[in-house]
Amino acid sequence: MTPADRTDTVHLRAFTEGDLPFLDRLCTDPDALGEFEWPGFGDPRARRKRWEADGYISADSTAVAIARADNTVVGIATWKPRGFPSGVTYEIGVGVVPEHRSQGVGTAAQRLLVDYLLDHTTANRIEALTNGGNLAEQKALERLGFRQEGVMRGRSFQHGNYVDVLVYGLLRAEYRPATA
Ligand SMILES: CC(C)(COP(=O)(O)OP(=O)(O)OC[C@H]1O[C@@H](n2cnc3c(N)ncnc32)[C@H](O)[C@@H]1OP(=O)(O)O)[C@@H](O)C(=O)NCCC(=O)NCCS
Repeated sequence: MTPADRTDTVHLRAFTEGDLPFLDRLCTDPDALGEFEWPGFGDPRARRKRWEADGYISADSTAVAIARADNTVVGIATWKPRGFPSGVTYEIGVGVVPEHRSQGVGTAAQRLLVDYLLDHTTANRIEALTNGGNLAEQKALERLGFRQEGVMRGRSFQHGNYVDVLVYGLLRAEYRPATA
């Protein structure tokens, strides 16, 4: 079993007040979300306000911490409902800070995220969008059974260029086939 197949190395938990410096970092450190996801500098107070309002957990969008066994936060995992009717499709996203990348954390966190959504929501489809150049994310999704379903050409803008975005999807029955 490789680190990417293990889910005991990390866990998902709600953000706490002690994690606010981590949330600040996502707005101020261009490396924190990496070359494909850094949206530019943001106001850290906006993230703090969101945490104070609802702890980053709501029916419209949720973000939780990816934490190591010692509870250190090493990333962020998100989901939000998509499409109509609500409750069928959820879009997920994940970001691991650079010092914890390439150690299986991103794959393990997304495995936990899929498990959580299938256990606690009526999700039939989980989808993820990723930059065409983001090989680590594509490999992580494919290891979990996500299928690449299409390319949205020129959908994003990064580093001065319009870039393609890949659509990945995973159906409940593919991840958890019915047993006799
Ligand atoms: C993308 C990301 C979540 C992947 O998580 P990670 O913990 O770094 O990746 P893992 O260690 O779980 O590895 C996943 C796969 O990618 C491969 N990989 C890891 N780093 C890689 C790299 N820099 N380039 C290419 N492949 C890489 C691993 O070998 C593994 O492949 P395998 O399943 O065939 O063994 C993480 O790198 C990250 O947070 N990046 C910045 C934010 C981001 O891009 N998020 C994705 C949003 S769509």
